[in-house]
Amino acid sequence: SKLFRIAIDGPGASGKSTTAKQLAKKLGFGYIDSGAMFRAITLKCQQNNIDPSDIANKDKVTEIANNAEIRFPTLDQVELDGQNVSELIRTSNISRNISLVASNWAVRDILANQQRKMAKGEIPGTISTGFERHGKLVKGVVMDGRDIGTVILPDAELKIFIEADVRIRAQRRFDELKKREGDALTETVDDVERDLEARDLADYTRKIAPLLKAKDAITLNTSHLSIEEQVDAIEKMVLERV
Ligand code: C5P
Repeated sequence: SKLFRIAIDGPGASGKSTTAKQLAKKLGFGYIDSGAMFRAITLKCQQNNIDPSDIANKDKVTEIANNAEIRFPTLDQVELDGQNVSELIRTSNISRNISLVASNWAVRDILANQQRKMAKGEIPGTISTGFERHGKLVKGVVMDGRDIGTVILPDAELKIFIEADVRIRAQRRFDELKKREGDALTETVDDVERDLEARDLADYTRKIAPLLKAKDAITLNTSHLSIEEQVDAIEKMVLERV
Protein backbone atom coordinates (compact mmCIF):
# COMPACT_ATOMS: atom_id res chain seq x y z
CA SER A 1 0.00 0.00 0.00
CA LYS A 2 1.05 3.62 -0.49
CA LEU A 3 3.18 5.23 2.18
CA PHE A 4 2.70 8.79 3.45
CA ARG A 5 6.15 10.33 3.03
CA ILE A 6 7.24 13.33 5.10
CA ALA A 7 10.36 15.20 3.92
CA ILE A 8 11.99 17.46 6.50
CA ASP A 9 14.85 19.69 5.35
CA GLY A 10 16.77 22.48 7.01
CA PRO A 11 20.16 23.65 8.28
CA GLY A 12 22.23 21.93 10.98
CA ALA A 13 21.00 21.84 14.57
CA SER A 14 17.60 23.20 13.59
CA GLY A 15 15.94 20.37 15.51
CA LYS A 16 15.15 18.34 12.40
CA SER A 17 16.27 14.95 13.64
CA THR A 18 14.74 15.20 17.09
CA THR A 19 11.48 16.43 15.61
CA ALA A 20 11.51 13.79 12.87
CA LYS A 21 12.18 11.01 15.34
CA GLN A 22 9.45 12.01 17.77
CA LEU A 23 7.03 12.52 14.92
CA ALA A 24 7.83 9.05 13.57
CA LYS A 25 7.29 7.58 17.02
CA LYS A 26 3.96 9.36 17.46
CA LEU A 27 2.61 8.34 14.06
CA GLY A 28 4.14 4.87 14.07
CA PHE A 29 6.13 5.79 10.95
CA GLY A 30 9.57 4.66 9.89
CA TYR A 31 12.45 7.13 10.18
CA ILE A 32 15.44 7.68 7.92
CA ASP A 33 18.20 10.06 9.03
CA SER A 34 19.94 10.94 5.75
CA GLY A 35 22.52 13.13 7.52
CA ALA A 36 23.59 10.08 9.54
CA MET A 37 24.37 8.32 6.26
CA PHE A 38 26.76 11.09 5.17
CA ARG A 39 28.22 11.08 8.68
CA ALA A 40 28.76 7.31 8.51
CA ILE A 41 30.61 7.60 5.19
CA THR A 42 32.78 10.39 6.65
CA LEU A 43 33.55 8.16 9.65
CA LYS A 44 34.41 5.21 7.45
CA CYS A 45 36.83 7.39 5.45
CA GLN A 46 38.54 8.42 8.69
CA GLN A 47 38.71 4.83 9.92
CA ASN A 48 40.43 3.90 6.67
CA ASN A 49 42.79 6.91 6.76
CA ILE A 50 41.31 8.33 3.59
CA ASP A 51 41.29 12.13 3.43
CA PRO A 52 38.15 13.14 1.49
CA SER A 53 39.59 16.61 0.80
CA ASP A 54 42.34 15.06 -1.36
CA ILE A 55 41.02 14.92 -4.91
CA ALA A 56 43.26 11.90 -5.56
CA ASN A 57 41.07 9.94 -3.12
CA LYS A 58 37.82 10.49 -4.98
CA ASP A 59 37.54 6.90 -6.23
CA LYS A 60 38.42 5.49 -2.82
CA VAL A 61 35.70 7.59 -1.19
CA THR A 62 33.23 6.33 -3.77
CA GLU A 63 34.27 2.75 -3.10
CA ILE A 64 33.77 3.30 0.62
CA ALA A 65 30.25 4.60 -0.03
CA ASN A 66 29.48 1.67 -2.32
CA ASN A 67 30.51 -0.89 0.27
CA ALA A 68 29.10 0.74 3.39
CA GLU A 69 26.05 -0.96 4.83
CA ILE A 70 24.09 1.66 6.76
CA ARG A 71 21.04 0.58 8.74
CA PHE A 72 18.61 2.13 11.22
CA PRO A 73 17.59 -0.77 13.49
CA THR A 74 15.76 1.55 15.94
CA LEU A 75 14.80 5.23 16.00
CA ASP A 76 17.98 6.10 17.93
CA GLN A 77 20.46 3.74 16.36
CA VAL A 78 22.70 4.01 13.33
CA GLU A 79 24.64 0.95 12.22
CA LEU A 80 27.63 0.98 9.89
CA ASP A 81 28.70 -2.47 8.66
CA GLY A 82 26.99 -4.10 11.63
CA GLN A 83 28.54 -1.76 14.25
CA ASN A 84 26.58 0.74 16.31
CA VAL A 85 28.09 4.12 15.35
CA SER A 86 25.33 6.36 16.73
CA GLU A 87 27.72 8.24 19.02
CA LEU A 88 30.83 8.12 16.84
CA ILE A 89 29.17 9.95 13.94
CA ARG A 90 28.03 12.92 16.06
CA THR A 91 31.37 14.43 16.99
CA SER A 92 32.49 17.91 15.90
CA ASN A 93 35.35 16.26 14.06
CA ILE A 94 32.91 14.46 11.76
CA SER A 95 30.77 17.60 11.32
CA ARG A 96 33.86 19.57 10.29
CA ASN A 97 34.91 17.06 7.65
CA ILE A 98 31.54 16.12 6.22
CA SER A 99 31.12 18.84 3.59
CA LEU A 100 33.71 17.25 1.29
CA VAL A 101 31.88 13.96 1.43
CA ALA A 102 28.47 15.60 1.01
CA SER A 103 29.62 17.48 -2.10
CA ASN A 104 30.98 14.34 -3.78
CA TRP A 105 28.36 13.60 -6.45
CA ALA A 106 29.20 9.88 -6.67
CA VAL A 107 28.61 9.49 -2.92
CA ARG A 108 25.34 11.44 -3.18
CA ASP A 109 24.21 9.23 -6.03
CA ILE A 110 24.92 6.04 -4.11
CA LEU A 111 23.20 7.32 -0.95
CA ALA A 112 20.26 8.73 -2.94
CA ASN A 113 19.58 5.26 -4.32
CA GLN A 114 19.65 3.77 -0.84
CA GLN A 115 17.49 6.57 0.59
CA ARG A 116 14.80 6.04 -2.05
CA LYS A 117 14.86 2.28 -1.47
CA MET A 118 14.58 2.81 2.28
CA ALA A 119 11.61 5.12 1.75
CA LYS A 120 9.88 2.34 -0.18
CA GLY A 121 10.73 -0.22 2.47
CA GLU A 122 13.01 -2.14 0.11
CA ILE A 123 15.91 -1.93 2.57
CA PRO A 124 15.11 -3.13 6.07
CA GLY A 125 14.80 -0.23 8.47
CA THR A 126 12.62 1.10 11.24
CA ILE A 127 9.23 -0.39 10.57
CA SER A 128 6.08 1.60 10.05
CA THR A 129 3.16 0.24 12.04
CA GLY A 130 1.11 3.32 11.15
CA PHE A 131 -1.99 4.79 12.78
CA GLU A 132 -5.76 4.50 12.30
CA ARG A 133 -7.56 7.33 10.53
CA HIS A 134 -11.15 7.27 9.24
CA GLY A 135 -11.13 3.48 9.67
CA LYS A 136 -8.02 3.14 7.52
CA LEU A 137 -4.47 2.30 8.47
CA VAL A 138 -2.04 5.05 7.47
CA LYS A 139 1.57 3.96 7.16
CA GLY A 140 4.48 6.17 6.31
CA VAL A 141 8.01 7.32 6.63
CA VAL A 142 9.80 10.46 7.84
CA MET A 143 13.11 11.39 6.21
CA ASP A 144 15.20 14.38 7.21
CA GLY A 145 18.16 16.06 5.53
CA ARG A 146 19.02 18.87 3.13
CA ASP A 147 17.69 17.74 -0.25
CA ILE A 148 14.87 15.36 0.63
CA GLY A 149 12.00 17.55 -0.63
CA THR A 150 13.94 18.76 -3.67
CA VAL A 151 15.95 15.76 -4.91
CA ILE A 152 15.31 12.54 -3.01
CA LEU A 153 11.52 12.55 -2.62
CA PRO A 154 10.28 15.40 -4.87
CA ASP A 155 6.77 13.91 -4.75
CA ALA A 156 6.63 13.51 -0.95
CA GLU A 157 3.14 13.85 0.51
CA LEU A 158 4.32 16.54 2.95
CA LYS A 159 7.42 18.73 2.85
CA ILE A 160 8.65 20.82 5.76
CA PHE A 161 11.51 23.32 5.71
CA ILE A 162 12.80 24.02 9.19
CA GLU A 163 14.53 27.30 10.01
CA ALA A 164 15.95 28.76 13.23
CA ASP A 165 18.34 31.58 14.18
CA VAL A 166 21.96 30.44 14.01
CA ARG A 167 22.68 31.56 17.59
CA ILE A 168 19.78 29.47 18.89
CA ARG A 169 20.89 26.50 16.82
CA ALA A 170 24.45 26.85 18.12
CA GLN A 171 23.19 26.91 21.71
CA ARG A 172 21.09 23.80 21.10
CA ARG A 173 24.01 21.90 19.54
CA PHE A 174 26.32 23.09 22.33
CA ASP A 175 23.90 21.84 25.00
CA GLU A 176 23.73 18.49 23.20
CA LEU A 177 27.53 18.19 23.04
CA LYS A 178 27.86 19.28 26.68
CA LYS A 179 25.38 16.67 27.79
CA ARG A 180 27.33 13.99 25.98
CA GLU A 181 30.91 15.05 26.64
CA GLY A 182 30.59 16.90 29.95
CA ASP A 183 33.88 18.41 31.16
CA ALA A 184 35.72 16.82 28.24
CA LEU A 185 34.11 19.39 25.95
CA THR A 186 36.68 22.00 25.01
CA GLU A 187 34.53 24.01 22.59
CA THR A 188 32.59 27.15 23.40
CA VAL A 189 29.19 28.17 22.03
CA ASP A 190 31.06 30.59 19.73
CA ASP A 191 33.15 27.73 18.32
CA VAL A 192 30.01 25.70 17.68
CA GLU A 193 28.33 28.70 16.04
CA ARG A 194 31.32 29.27 13.76
CA ASP A 195 31.35 25.60 12.71
CA LEU A 196 27.61 25.68 12.06
CA GLU A 197 27.91 28.81 9.91
CA ALA A 198 30.69 27.23 7.86
CA ARG A 199 28.68 24.06 7.33
CA ASP A 200 25.50 26.03 6.47
CA LEU A 201 27.44 28.03 3.90
CA ALA A 202 28.86 24.86 2.35
CA ASP A 203 25.39 23.25 2.32
CA TYR A 204 23.63 26.31 0.84
CA THR A 205 26.21 27.05 -1.84
CA ARG A 206 27.39 23.68 -3.11
CA LYS A 207 26.60 22.99 -6.75
CA ILE A 208 25.10 19.57 -6.26
CA ALA A 209 21.89 19.16 -4.24
CA PRO A 210 22.29 22.34 -2.15
CA LEU A 211 20.18 23.05 0.90
CA LEU A 212 17.10 24.59 -0.67
CA LYS A 213 13.45 24.96 0.26
CA ALA A 214 11.26 23.07 -2.20
CA LYS A 215 8.58 25.25 -3.85
CA ASP A 216 5.82 23.27 -2.19
CA ALA A 217 7.47 22.98 1.24
CA ILE A 218 5.97 24.58 4.34
CA THR A 219 8.40 26.72 6.35
CA LEU A 220 8.49 26.13 10.08
CA ASN A 221 10.58 28.56 12.09
CA THR A 222 11.51 26.80 15.29
CA SER A 223 13.53 29.56 16.98
CA HIS A 224 10.90 29.92 19.66
CA LEU A 225 9.22 26.53 19.52
CA SER A 226 9.78 23.56 21.81
CA ILE A 227 10.35 20.15 20.23
CA GLU A 228 6.86 19.16 21.36
CA GLU A 229 5.34 22.19 19.63
CA GLN A 230 7.27 21.38 16.45
CA VAL A 231 6.09 17.79 16.48
CA ASP A 232 2.48 18.82 17.13
CA ALA A 233 2.55 21.37 14.31
CA ILE A 234 3.72 18.80 11.76
CA GLU A 235 1.38 16.11 13.08
CA LYS A 236 -1.52 18.50 12.51
CA MET A 237 -0.43 19.00 8.90
CA VAL A 238 -0.32 15.23 8.41
CA LEU A 239 -3.80 14.76 9.84
CA GLU A 240 -5.11 17.48 7.52
CA ARG A 241 -3.82 15.50 4.57
CA VAL A 242 -4.96 11.94 5.23
O1 C5P B 1 21.63 16.50 9.39
P1 C5P B 1 23.07 16.43 9.79
O2 C5P B 1 23.55 17.65 10.52
O3 C5P B 1 23.41 15.17 10.52
O4 C5P B 1 23.87 16.38 8.40
C1 C5P B 1 25.25 16.43 8.36
C2 C5P B 1 25.75 16.92 7.01
O5 C5P B 1 25.47 15.96 6.00
C3 C5P B 1 25.14 18.21 6.47
O6 C5P B 1 25.78 19.37 6.94
C4 C5P B 1 25.29 18.07 4.97
O7 C5P B 1 26.56 18.51 4.55
C5 C5P B 1 25.18 16.59 4.77
N1 C5P B 1 23.86 16.19 4.31
C6 C5P B 1 23.56 16.34 2.98
N2 C5P B 1 22.35 15.91 2.50
C7 C5P B 1 21.43 15.38 3.33
C8 C5P B 1 21.70 15.25 4.71
C9 C5P B 1 22.93 15.68 5.18
O8 C5P B 1 24.37 16.83 2.22
N3 C5P B 1 20.27 14.95 2.82
